[in-house]
Amino acid sequence: MSQPLVEYKDVHKSFDDVEVLNGINLTVTPGEKLALIGPSGSGKTTIIRMLMTLEKPTSGIINVDGTPLWHKEVNGELVPADEKHLRQVRGNIGMVFQHFNLFPHMTILKNCTSAPINVLGVSKEEAEQRAKEMLTKVGLGDKLDSYPAQLSGGQQQRVAIARAVVMRPKVMLFDEVTSALDPETVGEVLEVIKDIAKEGEMAMILVTHEMDFARDVADRIVFLEGGKIAEQGPPQQILEDPESDRLQSFLERFRSTL
Ligand SMILES: Nc1ncnc2c1ncn2[C@@H]1O[C@H](COP(=O)(O)OP(=O)(O)OP(=O)(O)O)[C@@H](O)[C@H]1O
Ligand SMILES: [Mg+2]
Repeated sequence: MSQPLVEYKDVHKSFDDVEVLNGINLTVTPGEKLALIGPSGSGKTTIIRMLMTLEKPTSGIINVDGTPLWHKEVNGELVPADEKHLRQVRGNIGMVFQHFNLFPHMTILKNCTSAPINVLGVSKEEAEQRAKEMLTKVGLGDKLDSYPAQLSGGQQQRVAIARAVVMRPKVMLFDEVTSALDPETVGEVLEVIKDIAKEGEMAMILVTHEMDFARDVADRIVFLEGGKIAEQGPPQQILEDPESDRLQSFLERFRSTL
């Protein structure tokens, strides 16, 4: 097996005195697509926000491509990382949120070129080429000069995906990216994610309530409950032959609300 791209080692997270993640051990290999499912409040968002450096673990280690994210090695010891180190390691990671937060005063094209130019130092020509290619891939090649407010929610979310992918992260995080959308635009966004997933190189962690989508896109499904990984395995096994009572009742509850 190749070296893990992402590795959580006994990661705990508390807010105030309440422990919301208690001992997460999880690895993602390069290119692997992992779906994270579980009840509301089980800690799914917190797990990926720690990888995006938006929340700091209370204890434990998170490695990205063999490098500790929240720590720095000094004389063989791990000490808390500084902002520069965090930024550097975070360069491997991209995220798409439930609310897409595009820059409202920039065209769609500019939304997708500004970070490659300003953060990666890519030339304007190269950034525009990458952005046009990605925007075409997500079906928005004819909207380059439009502004976010002129687009539907589904179109804006596709821009947000393109904007993250042009940074060429090694791992992309998706946090329920269709849950704020009108039902009729959910499918187009899921299709775009599936297409990008099929290309293979990028690893993905997808928090989702869309079980059919999880089955299609994921190599592995991880079921989180009460801040712990309760069960994980290939989609077919998790969705059709769940072992634990907890997962069985989660899936049943879930189906009954569809
Ligand atoms: N900033 C915060 N301050 C205090 N508590 C928090 C904070 N963020 C999350 N929590 C708590 O941590 C727990 C896990 O939250 P998290 O958002 O990770 O769950 P989730 O699985 O993503 O849920 P959902 O499916 O509703 O999005 C919840 O009990 C939540 O209330
Ligand atoms: Mg969440």
